[in-house]
Amino acid sequence: MFSWDKPNQRLPAAAAAALLLLGAALPSRAASPSEGAADVAETAALAKIAPVVPAESDRVGHYGYGTVPTAAQIAGWAIDIRPDGQGLPEGSGTVEHGADIYAQQCAGCHGTFGEGEGRYPKLASQSKLTGDQPTKAVGNYWPYATTLWDYINRAMPFPAPHSLSANDVYAITAYILNLNDVVPDNFVADRNSLPKVVMPNRHGFILRDPRPDTASTECMTHCLPEAAVKITSTAEGKDLTPRTSGPLDEMAPK
Ligand code: HEC
Repeated sequence: MFSWDKPNQRLPAAAAAALLLLGAALPSRAASPSEGAADVAETAALAKIAPVVPAESDRVGHYGYGTVPTAAQIAGWAIDIRPDGQGLPEGSGTVEHGADIYAQQCAGCHGTFGEGEGRYPKLASQSKLTGDQPTKAVGNYWPYATTLWDYINRAMPFPAPHSLSANDVYAITAYILNLNDVVPDNFVADRNSLPKVVMPNRHGFILRDPRPDTASTECMTHCLPEAAVKITSTAEGKDLTPRTSGPLDEMAPK
């Protein structure tokens, strides 16, 4: 009599169907249906067909399909570089080398000097971020040089993302920073130098939401009894919410 190595593991429907199909194709020696099923399984085992056993399906909280990724697979996806430079790989690149690769791989869309071709994004600008339509670019907007490396490494060149070597990404990053007058011509980008670059708009981001109603801390002990809370002001009647009908352009205060 055939028995599974791990008897309490379920046979998935597809595998069971495959075994039954196989059984149908082979002449059966079975006298009764139940004996027949065992016979089919035995035939499959004899034919050296490895039963498909979902080893993960019995794990708590698991859905019963897919496989657990290996450490190498996870490492392939874990490519994020943090603002402080954590995650930056070995390697380095000069502004000069960056200019060469940029001309081949990036200039067609972003312009030779980062001015942007057509409607592709500008990469170089020192203009202020004021006015009705500010142009955001690396020099006047990006807060970190490290995350510029991350972005280029993961997303560019647009038609072939993640195709550049670490050295080439360092070089192009150096070139783009140089186009924005953030680093000198002799700058060498690497895992030590990039975190030290202070971007012009580094302190232009407000991390704390200034609206008063977003800053309250949750009370955990000795909290005010609910009855003691008095509502002293509401949004009602203050025209804070636009009307909900009619074209947006024509909206006017009531
Ligand atoms: C085929 C056109 C194309 C090519 C070639 C290309 N890019 Fe881009 N790039 C884009 C587009 C489109 C975006 C905007 C993507 C988005 O917003 O999702 C972009 C965005 C960027 C940004 C972010 C700009 C910002 O401030 O938001 C950077 C940096 C960048 N590209 C660098 C590069 C570099 C470096 C190369 C060469 C290795 C390159 N790109 C090649 C089309 C291109």
